[in-house]
Amino acid sequence: MTASGGARYRWGVNCVELYQLGQRLMLIATEAMSVDAPLRRVKPGPRVVLEDALQNPDTTVDEIAQRTGLQQSQVSALVQELSGDRLLKDGGDRIEVSHKEVLRGNTRLTIDEPLAAALRTDDAGQEASLLESLARRLGMETVPCPDTDFNESYGRRTPPWEIGRPQPALAELAEEGAFRGRVLDVGCGTGEHALLAAGLGLAATGVDTASAAIEIARQKATERDLQATFAVHDALDLGTLGGQFDTVIDSALFHAIGGTDRARYESSLRQAIAPGGRYFMLCFADGKRGSRGVSRAEIEATFGNGWRIDAIDPAKLEMSTGRAGAAWRAAITRL
Ligand SMILES: C[S@@+](CC[C@H](N)C(=O)[O-])C[C@H]1O[C@@H](n2cnc3c(N)ncnc32)[C@H](O)[C@@H]1O
Repeated sequence: MTASGGARYRWGVNCVELYQLGQRLMLIATEAMSVDAPLRRVKPGPRVVLEDALQNPDTTVDEIAQRTGLQQSQVSALVQELSGDRLLKDGGDRIEVSHKEVLRGNTRLTIDEPLAAALRTDDAGQEASLLESLARRLGMETVPCPDTDFNESYGRRTPPWEIGRPQPALAELAEEGAFRGRVLDVGCGTGEHALLAAGLGLAATGVDTASAAIEIARQKATERDLQATFAVHDALDLGTLGGQFDTVIDSALFHAIGGTDRARYESSLRQAIAPGGRYFMLCFADGKRGSRGVSRAEIEATFGNGWRIDAIDPAKLEMSTGRAGAAWRAAITRL
């Protein structure tokens, strides 16, 4: 294999060993899934089609038949079965996986532990980082899953969203003077956006349920000689924070809140934002290949009542891996 600079990568395994490694990884991943995860519970026939469609987004019955060696009529029947289970989306001639449905019920958070156990190592984080970089080189997105144990993420290694500075898409808003009054950074992590607001001389508060993140945020405030309040607090219960805010910043929290919690979050925000106050949100956008983002329509539906949506713009959410994910940047006013 020749790198762009002309150097040669020397693999310590041959192709058969690499193939076996891939199969072993699939086994480890399957065992790490919860028992009711669709990828685990679908029967072998439909699973062949589902796995092929996962590998080949936006495909057709004909293409799947060619790749899998199944007959077209078999593929059609299996596609129908998977669509009935809502694992495939009905897109006319094109076949697409419903990633949300495929991920549903997969409450096991990360592959780290089973992987580390299989490799007989204690350093789960290091193994996961290796896999992450491999996934990146294969062009796959690695984003935190919706039910990530955030507190554990902060304790273990640099989480992918922790870039050590504000997200550029939000910093741009700050430069334009969009942040004003009392500022709340909700799901603040290690506090970069609250500290950005504090640096502008605004009264800034950051809340997060991960105590490990709040501890780091407080340290950062001390080190940077900035005044900001940080507290462990649930974003779904902002009404009990005391006081209302003129600006609420949400960097990469919205997409992590799904199901019925979305409506709770909206109601919580309504209580925390003063009339006329603004909510600035950056979240992963929906897409293909394992994306866990949200659609523009979902944002519009969440803030359909009692809010004015000023803008939902395509943006980027940068990650510590050096890559950036497709995102939405929304500016929404509380009426
Ligand atoms: C992807 S991280 C983003 C952190 C930070 N905003 C940033 O941009 O670096 C999402 C954060 O939301 C926090 N979080 C998740 N659910 C929460 C909830 N219900 N209430 C408050 N924080 C929450 C997590 O602990 C995590 O720190």
